[in-house]
Amino acid sequence: MQLIRVFSVLSLAAGGLACGPLHAHDAEHEVVARDTLKIAPGPSDTQIQFAPVPSIVDPAPIDPTLGYFVGDLGGGVHWVTEGAYSNMFLVSTHGVIVVDAPPTIGRKLLYAIGNTTHLPVTHLVYSHFHADHIGGASLFNASHPTIIAHAETLSLLSSLSPRDPLRPLPHVTFQGNYTLRVGNQTLELSYHGPNHAPGNLFMYAPAQRVALLIDVVFPGWAPFSELGISTFIPGWTAAHDVLLTFDFDVFVAGHVSRLGTKDDVLLQKKYIEDMHDSCAAAINGGFDVSAAIGPTIAANPGNTWAEFKAYLRVAAQTCADNTTSRWLGVLGAVDVFAFESAYRMIESLRVESDVLGPFGVS
Ligand SMILES: *[C@@H]1O[C@H](CO)[C@@H](O)[C@H](O)[C@H]1NC(C)=O
Ligand SMILES: *[C@@H]1O[C@H](CO)[C@@H](O)[C@H](O)[C@H]1NC(C)=O
Ligand SMILES: *[C@@H]1O[C@H](CO)[C@@H](O)[C@H](O)[C@H]1NC(C)=O
Ligand SMILES: *[C@@H]1O[C@H](CO)[C@@H](O)[C@H](O)[C@H]1NC(C)=O
Ligand SMILES: *[C@@H]1O[C@H](CO)[C@@H](O)[C@H](O)[C@H]1NC(C)=O
Ligand SMILES: [Zn+2]
Repeated sequence: MQLIRVFSVLSLAAGGLACGPLHAHDAEHEVVARDTLKIAPGPSDTQIQFAPVPSIVDPAPIDPTLGYFVGDLGGGVHWVTEGAYSNMFLVSTHGVIVVDAPPTIGRKLLYAIGNTTHLPVTHLVYSHFHADHIGGASLFNASHPTIIAHAETLSLLSSLSPRDPLRPLPHVTFQGNYTLRVGNQTLELSYHGPNHAPGNLFMYAPAQRVALLIDVVFPGWAPFSELGISTFIPGWTAAHDVLLTFDFDVFVAGHVSRLGTKDDVLLQKKYIEDMHDSCAAAINGGFDVSAAIGPTIAANPGNTWAEFKAYLRVAAQTCADNTTSRWLGVLGAVDVFAFESAYRMIESLRVESDVLGPFGVS
């Protein structure tokens, strides 16, 4: 029933073009060639010259022979980056608390800690269950740290089949807030509902005024592809405001090779609001649906998915072009993942926020 309705809505939207004088074979060829590798149209990325990244990206001075950088945030708090990922550790009087273990930092994290203190790692906190941020956790197996995470993180990790030996299950979990006290260090963990991923935590070290929130704000840069591969966009968007309620000077973002400030949170919040409004405008009559999907309908009669793909692709491209025109040079690399992030925003508006344009209640 649903498919039939969708099909008819699309065909209706495309009007007479569905029966237009297109050579099906040629059109199909073109569609296949553009879709071989990725959801975005256009030539392969190796041929694309993206805009130069502006100075706001301000990368950490990574020693090329070491391949990593350790920043001292005072009061025993340190952050580590290898250029693309970042995490944090806190040296206490009793041992070290490590937050996340990105596999790309890997053993460099052990070196960073080992060159800072002789104390053992006693606690390991997972921000969320994603392997690209905690897949290096088993490197700490030998020191048997107490692993702490939100209950959702335990639930997700234990439901993986097979289980991942590189991400040992947390020993201590909680639902709302948890205050971790080790020696002289205090780290407040709080959960405000699903955002980037279920279980993704806000962390705050009050003595040092340092916050940590992973995969939400990308300081100086546009978000990574598909809004940072986030699963619940309304919660991810709201997380910007939640982060601003903490009294911090800098925050560790999990990505890019610098820390973030409140100004970075406010700037990305504006960017996301603009993309949200531009994507809503695209859905609500921002482009000619008939022109966008007519050739695909003609080339693929009876193939509802093909029509929908054409619709979503033009909606996302319309939104991406509109947003990028205002943000190029303001944040780094807005032109690189604009399509993929607009595509994610379009999907979120449609199914999470009920902005359905031509597919609303009929
Ligand atoms: C806690 O102790 C460590 C290790 O002695 C020290 O480096 C750090 O500055 C102390 N932090 C606080 C907040 O007292
Ligand atoms: C200190 O850092 C160097 C370079 O990364 C590394 O080779 C060495 O093993 C580290 N020392 C400790 C005690 O971890
Ligand atoms: C690390 O320890 C956990 C148990 O805490 C175990 O399940 C896992 O297989 C170990 N991983 C590796 C790579 O040794
Ligand atoms: C958790 O802490 C935050 C502040 O960090 C607070 O707003 C929230 O009400 C707390 N939630 C619970 C369940 O205690
Ligand atoms: C671009 O987006 C803005 C909202 O950010 C909207 O008002 C405008 O209509 C859009 N323009 C196009 C061509 O989609
Ligand atoms: Zn993630």
